[in-house]
Amino acid sequence: MKQKTVYYCTSCGNETPQWMGRCPACGEWNTLKEHVEAPAKAARRAAPAEGGERRPKRLSQIVSGSEQRFFTGFGELDRVLGGGAVKGSLVLVGGAPGIGKSTLLLQICRELCKEQKVLYVSGEESESQLKMRAERLGVSSETLLVYGETEMEEILRAAKETEPDILIVDSIQTMYAADNTTSPGGISQVKDCTMALLQLSKQTGITVFVVGHVNKEGSIAGPKVLEHMVDCVLYFEGERNGPYRLLRAAKNRFGSTNEIGVFEMADHGLREIPNPSEVLLAGRPKGAAGTCVACAMEGSRPVLAEVQALVTRSFLNQPRRTTDGFDYNRAALLAAVLEKRGGLRLSDCDLFLNVIGGLRIDEPGSDLPVAIAIASSFRDLPVADDLTAIGELGLTGETRAVSNLELRLAEVARLGFTKCVIPRHGTEKLSAPKGLQLLRVRNLREAVEIALGQGSGI
Ligand code: TYD
Ligand code: MG
Repeated sequence: MKQKTVYYCTSCGNETPQWMGRCPACGEWNTLKEHVEAPAKAARRAAPAEGGERRPKRLSQIVSGSEQRFFTGFGELDRVLGGGAVKGSLVLVGGAPGIGKSTLLLQICRELCKEQKVLYVSGEESESQLKMRAERLGVSSETLLVYGETEMEEILRAAKETEPDILIVDSIQTMYAADNTTSPGGISQVKDCTMALLQLSKQTGITVFVVGHVNKEGSIAGPKVLEHMVDCVLYFEGERNGPYRLLRAAKNRFGSTNEIGVFEMADHGLREIPNPSEVLLAGRPKGAAGTCVACAMEGSRPVLAEVQALVTRSFLNQPRRTTDGFDYNRAALLAAVLEKRGGLRLSDCDLFLNVIGGLRIDEPGSDLPVAIAIASSFRDLPVADDLTAIGELGLTGETRAVSNLELRLAEVARLGFTKCVIPRHGTEKLSAPKGLQLLRVRNLREAVEIALGQGSGI
């Protein structure tokens, strides 16, 4: 059969029939890589479910099997997976090298091995290195099988022979399929190996966890190429030198992609943090200008984080705006609203915004605290330590109510804040949790005045 050559963009995963200098989909230069498609094999077809007949069926004829889930021992991981891992699914765990992917997957073996058989295949560490790491993490299960191997055929053979319930493959970049002549880690190999694992999981019902290293641009060797094949894509993020790690779902066929899991990397592996607000606010400077606490919804859970802003006089023709953890365009828009409706001359100033702890708080409820942090730095007036703000800002400077306000206020009160600036409109019937005073404002100007201690409160 004739071999077909296609080109994949390593940045967005777009496929084109011919090579181009620039990807027509995402516009990146020099990202197209050649991929020789192996001749279609019979096994490439979607596997029939346990010997079932291969032809279209009526939906009503299909026996519905409710998805079976199991827990990993980490509530934070189970939350991101949508309430535990689904049996027979293929989960990709991506992240920068050294962030803790192997640690996470080895640690969950402790719980998984209690009732299931786990095969941990590593192409990165030798079997004795794995043993040492497992000992350090306190994983000493008799039933855990480890295998240092990188050849796909061998791994599939081992999986068929040992019949595990769960297969962990660390990492997809080190694996290779012998019938593919390209080098391991390349898009073609990564794709073929993932496809082989997908078939294995769909044919045998084995749950597969695959580790994928993220490259400098933040994508797992052609992210879209892998993302459409697997059931869940989880990203493990965080500052390498800092202790905290965030786990988030970029794709989840069995749950929401809004949930985050928070972990801390300690001496004996990862520790989960079920109440992240406390750690995110730890070490917050007291009485400093340019900071305000935001309360953002991360899936079903409200999380508090500190927003820091630095506004300085600019010596550039076009003042600088940088953001970390907050949408750049939204920050520019808030700066414009502050200038026009709040009377702050920000067009002469550089603006730097940072959300502490590696969290992203891109949601409408963060508008008010971000705007207040900017105003606080501009005027060099601190916000009271026990004050926080929640609300969206419109283009005319009006404040707007946001979703889940009661949940957020409960979290704010739980963490000891005594005042919270909220939009007036739409919150009239809302009662405050014990110990929390609600400061209702109509617009940005009122919000800034109250937060910086210049207003009377309404
Ligand atoms: P690792 O899981 O090997 O990262 P990945 O598989 O994502 O490449 O994590 C390695 C880092 O974690 C390394 O820098 C050391 C640190 N670490 C700890 O701090 N404590 C521990 O108990 C372990 C196992 C690792
Ligand atoms: Mg690793």
